[in-house]
Formats: sequence, structure tokens, C-alpha cells
Amino acid sequence: MAANTHTIVQALRDRFEADAILGARELPIPVPTAADRPTRAQSSAAPAEPPLPPRTPVSDEERESRRVALEVMDAREVMGCTRCGLHATRTKTVFGVGNPAARIMFIGEAPGHDEDVSGEPFVGRAGQLLTAMIEKGMGLKREDVYIANVIKCRPPNNRTPATDEIAACKDYLWRQIEMIRPEVIIALGAPAAQTLLGTREGIGRLRSRWHSFYPSGTSTIGEPIPVMPTFHPAYLLRDPTEKSKAWSDLKLVMARLNIPIPAR
Ligand code: URA
Repeated sequence: MAANTHTIVQALRDRFEADAILGARELPIPVPTAADRPTRAQSSAAPAEPPLPPRTPVSDEERESRRVALEVMDAREVMGCTRCGLHATRTKTVFGVGNPAARIMFIGEAPGHDEDVSGEPFVGRAGQLLTAMIEKGMGLKREDVYIANVIKCRPPNNRTPATDEIAACKDYLWRQIEMIRPEVIIALGAPAAQTLLGTREGIGRLRSRWHSFYPSGTSTIGEPIPVMPTFHPAYLLRDPTEKSKAWSDLKLVMARLNIPIPAR
């Protein structure tokens, strides 16, 4: 099959699969438009990264000590945090949930209304779609992964977090990442990807490519963690035709971690 035909067939397959797994809103399923078709540069893109070498399993003791360390940071620092103005309007802080020794960490933008009320990230409509992506799509359990946000308090009316709010909160996320030490980070949406990667590039250009997060901050010292940016589930709810792109990003992560695509 010619390279272009192969890519279009793959795009169609991703679209069918994504609609089957994540739910289609519209029928008939749209075929790729001219804008979806790869340019010459994209179709000769770098080959997929090889799978990561298997990591030594984390012992139960180590998992427990990470769980306690995270809980202590939440209880002693985050719950009472007044580092930015958002503390005045929040109901609850939203620290993060999941496996403290997770292989995959999902990082979103900020709590919304449902999260502000419950104290747990991604429990509203976008959260239900994220859970479907993890469980129906990747064949994992929500509790196998770790889910957090760039900022821990809801911005009023769900506005995009301000630069000073991100700056005030970032250290909590950096420490969560250091404690959990995931093999891969999935950045959901532009604010998460841009914060982790220190860039202003848009999500459309960042997604579907591997990037590196350096725990030491702006320097490139230390072992980097591979980052896959993808669309935020709230955006996918607004534009379900983009689900196939998110699904193809998740498949890149699964290939890198040797996670088989579940049989359907
Ligand atoms: N959107 C986010 O980015 N995070 C949440 O926790 C919920 C919605």
C-alpha cells in the first residue's frame, strides 16, 4: 500500500475504533478531510519510539511509603494552601488520585465544578470520558494510573488558570511526579502540556509526538520522563470527531509501555 493510502486507512481505522470505544455522537462517521491528510513532512515522520525497557516492579513497602508521602503533602500543605487567590473561592482542594507507583500519570488542567465539590480529579463529564479512555480504550483500571491536575483549586467559572496561579502551584505537581516516578506522562490539553514542557506551542502541534519532562525543572539534568500530549477530554466532548486522534495518541503510549490493545 502506498504510504499515503496506508495513513488514510490508519486514520479511518482509528476513527472507527475511537467511536466504538469512546462513543460516537454523529453518524455517518466522517472520512478524513484534506486537512487530516498527512503532509509530506508528516508522512515521513520519525519512526515510533521503541518500547521502554521493563522497570523493576515497585515493592508493596515502597508503594505504601509513596502513598503516605503523598497523603502527608496533601494534608499538611495542599489542603490549607493560600499561595494564590483561588483559595478564597474553592470548596475543596483537588490533590490527585490513583496508584502511587503508577506506570502512567495523566495530568489535566484544573478542577471543575464537580471536582471542586468532591475533592477528586476528573469525576464530571470530562472525567467520565477520561475513565472510558483508560478502561475501555487502554484496558486498564482507573485506579491503576495516577490522575492529577496542574493546579489544585478550581478557577472561577472554569476559566483557564492564570500564569501566576500555575507558578504558585507547580511545585506540588513537580513533587507528585517525583514521588510517583511514572514511566510515561500523558498531558491532557494545552495548559498541562505547556506547563510540563515549558513551551507556548499549541496542543495540535505538540500532540502525537514524544517529549521529555525533566524533573529538575528547566535544566536537562536527570532522567527525563517521556510525555505524550493529547487533547483534553472536555475538548473531545465538544468535538467528538477528534477522538480518533486522541485514541491514536493513547496507542503510541500503549506501544511504548508494551500494553496490548484489548481484544474487542
Ligand atoms: N478538567 C481538568 O482538567 N481536570 C479535572 O479534574 C476536571 C476537568
